[in-house]
Amino acid sequence: MHRRRARPQPWLFDDPSAMNTDLPKQPLPRVVVLISGRGSNLSALLAANLPLHFAAVISNKADAGGLLAAKQSGIPTEVISHLDFESREIFDQALAERIEGYLQAKPDSGDIREKGLVILAGFMRIFSPAFTQHFAGRMINIHPSLLPSFTGLHTHQRALDEGVRIHGCTVHLVTAQLDHGPILAQCAVPVLEGDDAQTLAARVLRQEHLLYPRVLRAWALGALSIDEDGKPHWEYVQDPMLSLPIPSLEIS
Ligand code: GRF
Repeated sequence: MHRRRARPQPWLFDDPSAMNTDLPKQPLPRVVVLISGRGSNLSALLAANLPLHFAAVISNKADAGGLLAAKQSGIPTEVISHLDFESREIFDQALAERIEGYLQAKPDSGDIREKGLVILAGFMRIFSPAFTQHFAGRMINIHPSLLPSFTGLHTHQRALDEGVRIHGCTVHLVTAQLDHGPILAQCAVPVLEGDDAQTLAARVLRQEHLLYPRVLRAWALGALSIDEDGKPHWEYVQDPMLSLPIPSLEIS
């Protein structure tokens, strides 16, 4: 049995769109973003003016393009190369410790939001079970397919090879089984005549950049909660961004 927590009141967050400035403000929920590459999703999150405190961006690759975007936004960055560690487990342990340092999680906090969130944005590593267990219910990923179809890599080419007519992206919670955690939101795009993996990837990516900020805003505002069993719950929160429609089929 799980206990529902009181929903945080969106207007208490230190959000530029907050209406009542006389009330005491809660600190913004802290997040750490993990990347390995160009970081276009990270850039979309940074551009979305989310009511989140980006405590750090960590990359396992020193040449990840997303590090520059983070620096330009004044966010602390760190490179922790998996090559410097003897095993996946040891790397994951070091990574978890660094993340927790940035999140400044309160271990006795009853609200998972106060423990902070790990956002995966193109982090190309498979985690050990200990890592996923440690961040259970507070680690989110975006995957370039309509899960549970096409887990893993090369999703766009595999979608083309299978001849699917609808493809897309999924935001989901991260669990021990790769790309199998509870689905939070999805966006579909059509597969068009003449598509190759690049054109299809670009069409999906445009939707990723709309979907991911929306889900994280919902989490920050309490419209999306994750309970102790790692199950997502949605409830209505009046918010101009959350009520915008997501184009589910963008033909371009
Ligand atoms: C995206 O397609 C995302 O869905 C997947 O990795 C890619 C990262 O791209 N997890 P970017 O680094 O955000 O541009």
